[in-house]
Formats: sequence, structure tokens, C-alpha cells
Amino acid sequence: MSLLEVKGISFSYEKPIIENLSFSANGGESISIMGVSGSGKSTLLHILSSFLKPQKGSVNIFNKDIYAIPYAEILALRRKEIGIIFQSHYLFLGFSARENLEVASLLSEERIDDSLLEFFGIFENLPKNVSALSGGQQQRLSIARILTKKPHIIFADEPTGNLDRENAFKVMGLLFEYIHQTSTLLIYVTHDPLLAQKATRSYQLENATLKPLH
Ligand SMILES: Nc1ncnc2c1ncn2[C@@H]1O[C@H](COP(=O)(O)OP(=O)(O)OP(=O)(O)O)[C@@H](O)[C@H]1O
Ligand SMILES: [Mg+2]
Repeated sequence: MSLLEVKGISFSYEKPIIENLSFSANGGESISIMGVSGSGKSTLLHILSSFLKPQKGSVNIFNKDIYAIPYAEILALRRKEIGIIFQSHYLFLGFSARENLEVASLLSEERIDDSLLEFFGIFENLPKNVSALSGGQQQRLSIARILTKKPHIIFADEPTGNLDRENAFKVMGLLFEYIHQTSTLLIYVTHDPLLAQKATRSYQLENATLKPLH
């Protein structure tokens, strides 16, 4: 059984975005997706992460067809199993770093893991207001917030798009180490070919399908 199994999905807006796409992935793997602007990368992540139902085909997580299960089960899946990291982090500004983590902890019923915060180098920033953190510190906090719920699959849409390259590689390096240690599946979109190569599998989204890069 695969952690994520995609079977024959298709989706169109005015034009086809995804056509008859199938693949599967397991914990511990990282999959990168590149593609020109407008090729459908974000749309694909929305489909895989339970937010957009494909017009054909199915998406299975832990052997459950996520668009066929009751809504309450989808909500539980989102709260506990799926982590989503965006380019802009959606931290609660005006709140401290610790308060931002507490919200995630409450929703997922998982404790805040101090060793995770030390690992991400943000432990000493916890009392600070989010707006007093640098861009890199904010992004590391937002990733730590996602990891607080111990998701089994992480979807990341240009997670380091707002950071300079050095910080982007540092943050992604931490994320790779984390998924390796915890057998989490990571699927991320990036425009940076070097960052894409760091994945165990890389794809280019082109002509409504994923072309393997390596
Ligand atoms: N809600 C929507 N309604 C209609 N068309 C949409 C909608 N969302 C996206 N599209 C169209 O679908 C296509 C793919 O959009 P998407 O946001 O998935 O691209 P992307 O590859 O993530 O681009 P970028 O690299 O700029 O983020 C685009 O042509 C876009 O205009
Ligand atoms: Mg996008």
C-alpha cells in the first residue's frame, strides 16, 4: 500500500491542466515539481491535498479515496495527516512565535516538540512577536508550525520562494532531514532547478502531465 496513490486524474479550467495522471509515493520520499508559470503546479497540489476534486480519477491517502469519504474524515485528515506550506506563510501577525505554535498544537492535539524547534533554530525566538522576525526566521517558524502536527504528507508550494538562495537551501535542508528521519512524504513545487534536484524524484509539469526529470 502506498501512502499516496493517484489514479487517472484529470482536471480542466478553460484548458486542460492535468490529463490522466497516475503515480504513487511513499513515506521518506521527496518529489519536486517544476513547470512554467500557469502550467498548473498549484492546481495539482490543491488536488493532491484534498482541496480540489479532480473531474476524473481518484486520490488515495492511506488507501482512502479522499474525495469519496465523508467530509468529517477529510477534515480530520487535513488537521492531522496533511501539512501544507505556502510561499507566504500565513502566520498570525501580532501574535508571538509560541502562540502561533500553540494554535497548531491545539488543532492537531499534538504537543509542541522543543527538539524540533531547536532543530529549526527558532527556540530562542519563541517569545518574540512574529513581525519582529526576519523572513527566514518566519519561514522556519511556519514550517515548524506545520511539523508540530506531525503530518504524514507535506505539500509545499514554493516554500522558500520569498527567501534568498542561501536561506532557501538551509530551510529546505532542514525539511529534507526531517522527512528522512520521520518517513514523511514531501511534495514540493519550486522554480529553482538546484532545489528540484535535491528531491528523490523530480518532475516537470508540462502539457498537462508530469514528465520525469530524474
Ligand atoms: N480558480 C480558477 N479558475 C479559473 N482558472 C484558474 C483558476 N485557478 C487557476 N486557474 C488557471 O489554471 C492555470 C494553472 O494555474 P496554477 O495556479 O495552477 O499555475 P502554477 O503552475 O501554479 O503557476 P505559478 O508558477 O505562477 O504559481 C492558469 O492558467 C490559471 O489561470
Ligand atoms: Mg503556483
